Amino acid sequence: MFKEDEKFIRQAIREALKAKGDTSPNPLVGAVIVKDKRIISRGYHKGPGYPHAEIEAINGAPESLAGSTLYITLEPCSFWGKTPPCVETIKMIPFERIVIGTVDPNPRVNGKSIKILKKAGYNVSVGVCENEVKKLNPYFESFIKSFKTYLLLKVAISKDSFIYSKEFPEKYITSKESRIDLHEKRFGFDAILVGSNTINVDNPILDTRNIKKNYKPKILILDFSNKLDYSKNIVKDPKRLKYVFVSKKFRNILKDRSDLKYIFIKDKNESWDIIKNDLYNKGIISVMIEGGKKVLISALKSEMVDEINIYRSTINLKKGLKFDIEKIIDKYKNFKLLEEKKIGNDIFLRYRCLQV
Ligand SMILES: NC(=O)c1ccc[n+]([C@@H]2O[C@H](COP(=O)([O-])OP(=O)(O)OC[C@H]3O[C@@H](n4cnc5c(N)ncnc54)[C@H](OP(=O)(O)O)[C@@H]3O)[C@@H](O)[C@H]2O)c1
Repeated sequence: MFKEDEKFIRQAIREALKAKGDTSPNPLVGAVIVKDKRIISRGYHKGPGYPHAEIEAINGAPESLAGSTLYITLEPCSFWGKTPPCVETIKMIPFERIVIGTVDPNPRVNGKSIKILKKAGYNVSVGVCENEVKKLNPYFESFIKSFKTYLLLKVAISKDSFIYSKEFPEKYITSKESRIDLHEKRFGFDAILVGSNTINVDNPILDTRNIKKNYKPKILILDFSNKLDYSKNIVKDPKRLKYVFVSKKFRNILKDRSDLKYIFIKDKNESWDIIKNDLYNKGIISVMIEGGKKVLISALKSEMVDEINIYRSTINLKKGLKFDIEKIIDKYKNFKLLEEKKIGNDIFLRYRCLQV
């Protein structure tokens, strides 16, 4: 490894981040090409069907690549997918070195390209800034190994365990700092899931405005009994793609719109099977479940939730919609508390499921 390798891999990470939120089910990947200590070309993967990062960088190079170093956050692919295998294109170029952030966890690659490149005589370094690179795609590795969508359940709750009270005059139970933290987490999640009653009561926006990012994840709405109010903001907004899970009984009265798709189910358990196993071809490999109470309970009962995030405020609501999350978590004993910290005035708790 050379002294400047970390600096240039971090530049490749910056490239990758330009497509944050757009690449699922593919990972974020960035690349830079360096010659005489200068970056001469950059590239990132924009999403399914677009060229991979290293190909963008190679194709965009303004001068000969002979003697240059290719820095890529992820091992290049070695198989035909929507694009040809990148390793074959790389092999046509006399790079002096190739520096890779991390091995591709995809079992179809998983070190194969590195072997091919080494066999072809390239000087290859692997594992530069590996932890930072892996943070680019926190849900990709588990998805590519099991093809299961990552489910994070989030709840904002009062000190005395209410998630809503009609009598509480403020819109939010938790502090501004918690909402900023939540929006940072939302950024990059492929979809947010809510129950129809949460839309009817709260009329939420479900975006990332608190961190000034114009990121609008897809929306999954659980609405078994077809009670959704179609006049609410998010439902009307033609720019937000929504999937509505609704009983088969309503098949003949509901019509698809380009921003509104129906997934007809026979019972409520079927929603979770579809959410966990069948959404990746819609570009969804991570879902944040944001309530309300019926949906949170249904999610926990399904035993498919991977992680729980709780924002507990210091306010007592005294009455309203009670949700004793800690008691419920105790019922599903496979959750372990991994993190507890203060955010603003609130306490943030993060639980991880040990075997899903
Ligand atoms: N503090 C927080 O973090 C937070 C977050 C969100 C919402 N809330 C509050 O929660 C309240 C709403 O909660 P809620 O319990 O009344 O309603 P909800 O959970 O938002 O939505 C209930 C709807 O979801 C349907 N549903 C539930 N599980 C389903 C499944 N597996 N598949 C398909 N459909 C399913 C139900 O169908 P059925 O009609 O057939 O039962 C029902 O129509 C609001 O007052 C809101 O302010 C608080």
